[in-house]
Amino acid sequence: MVKQEDFYYGGDYNLEQWDQSVWEEDMRLMKKAGVNLVSINIFSWANLQPDELTYNFHTLDKIMDLLAAQGIKADLATATAAPPAWLARKYPESLPVDRNGTRLLPGSRQHYCPNSTDYKRLSKALAEKIARRYRSHPALVMWHINNEYGCHVSECYCDNCRKAFQTWLRKKYQTIDKLNKSWSTDFWSQRYYNWEEIHLPGKTPTFANPGQQLDYKRFMNDSILSLYKNERDVIKKYTPDVPVTTNLLGLHKPINGFLWAKEMDVAAWDAYPDPFDNLPCESFMAHDLTRSLKKSPFLLMEQAAGAVNWREQNAVKIPGRMRLWSYEAIAHGADGILFFQWRAAQGGAEKFHSGMVPHSNDENSRVFREVSALGRELKKCKELIGSAFCAEVAMIFEWENWWALELDSKPSNLIRYIEQLLSFYRILRQLNISVDFVRPGEKLDKYKVIFAPASYQVSKPFSDQVKTFIKNGGTFVTNFFSGIVNEDERVYLGGYPGAYKDVLGIYVEEFSPMRKEVSHQIKTLWGDMANRIWEEAIHLKGAEAIAWFQNGYLAGMPAVTRHRFGSGKAYYLGTQPEDSFLTYLFREILSNAHAGAPINVPEGVEVTKRIKGSAEYYFILNHSGREKIFVIDQVYDELLTGLQEKQVVRIPPMGVKIYKKNNEHS
Ligand code: GLA
Ligand code: ZN
Repeated sequence: MVKQEDFYYGGDYNLEQWDQSVWEEDMRLMKKAGVNLVSINIFSWANLQPDELTYNFHTLDKIMDLLAAQGIKADLATATAAPPAWLARKYPESLPVDRNGTRLLPGSRQHYCPNSTDYKRLSKALAEKIARRYRSHPALVMWHINNEYGCHVSECYCDNCRKAFQTWLRKKYQTIDKLNKSWSTDFWSQRYYNWEEIHLPGKTPTFANPGQQLDYKRFMNDSILSLYKNERDVIKKYTPDVPVTTNLLGLHKPINGFLWAKEMDVAAWDAYPDPFDNLPCESFMAHDLTRSLKKSPFLLMEQAAGAVNWREQNAVKIPGRMRLWSYEAIAHGADGILFFQWRAAQGGAEKFHSGMVPHSNDENSRVFREVSALGRELKKCKELIGSAFCAEVAMIFEWENWWALELDSKPSNLIRYIEQLLSFYRILRQLNISVDFVRPGEKLDKYKVIFAPASYQVSKPFSDQVKTFIKNGGTFVTNFFSGIVNEDERVYLGGYPGAYKDVLGIYVEEFSPMRKEVSHQIKTLWGDMANRIWEEAIHLKGAEAIAWFQNGYLAGMPAVTRHRFGSGKAYYLGTQPEDSFLTYLFREILSNAHAGAPINVPEGVEVTKRIKGSAEYYFILNHSGREKIFVIDQVYDELLTGLQEKQVVRIPPMGVKIYKKNNEHS
C-alpha cells in the first residue's frame, strides 16, 4: 500500500455537475487550498452507463488525468450509490419496499433493495469495469465503495428479501426446531413447521417476535454488507494493494461498524455535528468509535465547511469552528480531513449545502480562507500521521446490544443506548479521560477501567471475559438493565443482572421504572443528589452500597454499589444519577485505577494524546469560548507555531495546540 505522507485533505468532487471550464479553476483553487485528495465518481452511474450494454468513461478518464497532472490523488468511487433511472425501469424489483409495503421510487438516491440480484450484478459489473480501467492510473490512491450504506434505506420488505431472510435463517439455525427455540415461539402460538411460513417482521397486529426482529436486523446488516463485499472482492482482484474504504456514519444503528471494519482497509466516517451545539459530544464520541473499529487512524471522509441543507434550520460554522472541529477529529485519531463537498452545487437538492468553494466562487470569502489556511497548516503536523491514540479506559460498544435494547415491549423505553453511553462519555470527557470503544471478544486487559452502560444483552463468553478482567485487577462499571438477556433475547434466570450478578455481588429483585418527568433523590457519600429514569430493588450479596434510594417503597435500599472481586472492583448503578454524582464517582474510580488526564488543563479545555515511536503528541483544544491560562511543568515543542512552550500557557477561545515530547532526547 502507498505510504501516506500528508494528512489527506480535500473533499467530494462532483465535477460532472460542472462545465469543463470550471475544472481548470478548480485545479488552481485546490492547489491553493492544499487539497491532495478528492473523492470522485460517487454519483456518476447514470453518466457512466447510459444503458445496460453501454459504458462511457470519457469524462472520468479526463478528470483522472487532470488530477494526476496536478499531483492530486483520487479516492475513486464505484458510483453505485444511485442507480440510473433505466435500471429501475428495466428491473422494477430492484427498488426497495418500505415497512408499509410501498415501493420507493427513483429520483433521489440509494433506491435499491439490498437483496436485488439485478442491482448486485450490475453494481459489480460497474465496479469491475472501473477497477480494470483505472487499476494502474497514477491518480488512484484509494477506493471508495458506494456511499453511506444504509443511510436512507436500511430495511426492505420485498418478497425477494423475505426469501433471502428464509435462506439466511436456514443457514443460521439449520433446523426449524432450533429457530423455534431461539425465538421462543411457544409464546403466542408462533411455532413454525416450515421455513416458508416465516415472514419479515413488517406490519403485525402487535409486537412482533423479538427474536425475529433481532435476526432481521442482523440479516439486513449482512445483506447490505454483502453488497459492499461484492464490489470489494472484484476490486481486490485488480488492485490488491490499493486500500478500500466506504464512508460509515458513526453512531448509525443499522450498520454494525465492527463487522464492516473487518472488511475495510481504512475506517472512515462522515461527521455532521450541529453547529448550533457548542460541544457536539455525540459527534465527538463517534470519532472515538470510528477509530476504535480498527484501533488505528481513520479518515474524516466528509464534514461541512459551513452549513448543511438538511436540518430544519442550518447553522453556519462560525469563524474558527471548522478548524477546531477538524483538529478534534485529528486529536481523536484522524489522519485525513475531507469535506462534502469541494464546490457548492448550483442545482439539485443540495444546492444550499456549503462547499469548500462557496457559490460566490470568491477565494477571499471567509470559508475559502479558513479552508485554505487549514490545508496549509496541516502540513506542519504531518509527522503525526500513523500515530496511535492513547486510551487507558474503554467503553463497551455492541451493535447487537443496541438493537436488542431498543426493541419494543421493555420495562421502560427511556433507556436509549446512545444516550446511556453519552451520559458516561460526557463525564469522562470533562475529566479528560480518553476512551476506546471495544466490542465483546476484543482484548480487555490493556485497559484499567471498562465502562459498560446499558449492557443489556450479554453473551456467556462475554460475561466470562468480564469476570477474568476484574479478577485480574481491572475495574468494571455497569448500570441498570444490564446483564439481562442472552443473544436469543432470553432472560438469565435466578435474579438480575444474571450475566453480571457474581462480579457485582448483588441481586436485583425487581425493576421500578420512573416516568420521564419524575426525579427522586438518592443519598450518597457526596450528599443528596437527584436521580431519574429507573430504580430497582437491589440486595447486597457481597457488595457494599455507596448510595441509597430515598423515595417510596425502595427508601433506604442500595442505589449504587461497589464490590471487590478477585483483585479488581465492580461498580453498579441502579439508577440514573445526576451528573455531579457521576463526576464524583468516576473521579474516585479513575484515581483508584491510576487512570488520569495526559496533562492537567482547566475546565473547557480538552487534552488527548497520540504516540508514534518515541514521540508523544498532546492535543490541547479550547472549546470553552474564553481564553484559558494554565501552567505546564515541562517544555514542549508546539507543532503549529514551531515555537517552544513552557510554564504559563495561554490558549484563546477555539485555540488548538499540538505539543510534542520526544522521549529519545529528553
Ligand atoms: C452525506 C452524503 C453526501 C451529502 C452529504 C450532505 O454525507 O454522503 O453525498 O449528501 O451527506 O451533508
Ligand atoms: Zn428487498
